[in-house]
Amino acid sequence: MNILGIETSCDETSIGIVDGDGRVLANVIATQIDLHARYGGIVPEVASRQHVLDIRPVCEQAIEDAGLDWGDIDAVAATHGPGLAGSLIVGLNFSKGLSAALGVPFIGVNHMDGHVYGAWARTEDHDLEPFQELVGEQPIMCLVVSGGHTELVLLEGHGKFRLLGETRDDAAGEAFDKVARVLGLRYPGGPEIQRVAEGAPETDPFPRAWMRGTDEFSFSGLKTAVLTRARELGIYPPNGVDGGADPDVVAGLAKAFQDSVVDVLVTKTTAAAKRENCAGIVLVGGVAANGPLRQTLTDKSPLPVAIPPFKLCTDNGAMIAMSGLVNFRNGRRDDWDLDVIPSLRIGTSALV
Ligand code: KG4
Ligand code: ZN
Repeated sequence: MNILGIETSCDETSIGIVDGDGRVLANVIATQIDLHARYGGIVPEVASRQHVLDIRPVCEQAIEDAGLDWGDIDAVAATHGPGLAGSLIVGLNFSKGLSAALGVPFIGVNHMDGHVYGAWARTEDHDLEPFQELVGEQPIMCLVVSGGHTELVLLEGHGKFRLLGETRDDAAGEAFDKVARVLGLRYPGGPEIQRVAEGAPETDPFPRAWMRGTDEFSFSGLKTAVLTRARELGIYPPNGVDGGADPDVVAGLAKAFQDSVVDVLVTKTTAAAKRENCAGIVLVGGVAANGPLRQTLTDKSPLPVAIPPFKLCTDNGAMIAMSGLVNFRNGRRDDWDLDVIPSLRIGTSALV
């Protein structure tokens, strides 16, 4: 059995194929990062147009990489939300057309379920089978941290998720992207902040928003704290051709910001995992690429921590195929009138 998964919720056109055992046969990703970098964030209209251009060649490449024929595909899965509506529509309609042409079932996948199940897709250097066996006996805590979401999800059994808490305002990745802009760094901000924060001088810490008594998060106050201090230090708004900011000041602010985000994510995730008597913790989403976050979570967690390879952490088609496989096995089939999940996500192009 082979499931083809299509992801177009944001700025990646990606198509992956997994076999019946969840092995990744192909995972082609066409990223639009360079296209949006000049605007400092994602421009939804530009994103949807680029998906239209990329989706067919990406699909053909995926079939070729997997060494399959069209007739070897048993179901087509696609993200139907949450995400940018115009981008979702491209992948969703393409997948419906493909499933009709191939005469196979079509399955709509929730993007966040996809992120969680992406961790169970198998590659040469990644196999969560030992975790998989535990599902059902003991839950697994999943921290999903991306540009659009920050969620603590309890995986109680296969296909059985419970959302414990999410961000009340900005997602962690969104905060990275917006703070990077304040500091005069390029988009996407996460990798840039991590890069400049390395070896940064000690700086006064920023506050932590603990949201005590809940599993929720908030990052907009932290973002405003960085903005306020950048103003006080005279590096925002930027002046001069190069922004004119002292690199040590920028590095110090970047590190203090990153420390605050990592501290809150790690402390709250490990506490929730302990409370829910979890067997382990899974970290997914684009922000899972963050070195200090990976290291701190692994060091501080009393439970085993699993973090998939980078290509399965950021938006990708294999994770949608994997979620499609789990749903397919559970008997799920969707009608072609399945629509895009309404989404409030405005993307990282929103003003600081
Ligand atoms: O999951 P993803 O690829 O797309 C969404 O669904 O949003 O996540 C993208 C986000 C961006 O906000 C980006 O800045 C962040 O992941 N990111 C990072 C790092 N690499 C990517 N954040 C912190 N540190 C990184 N190294
Ligand atoms: Zn995502």
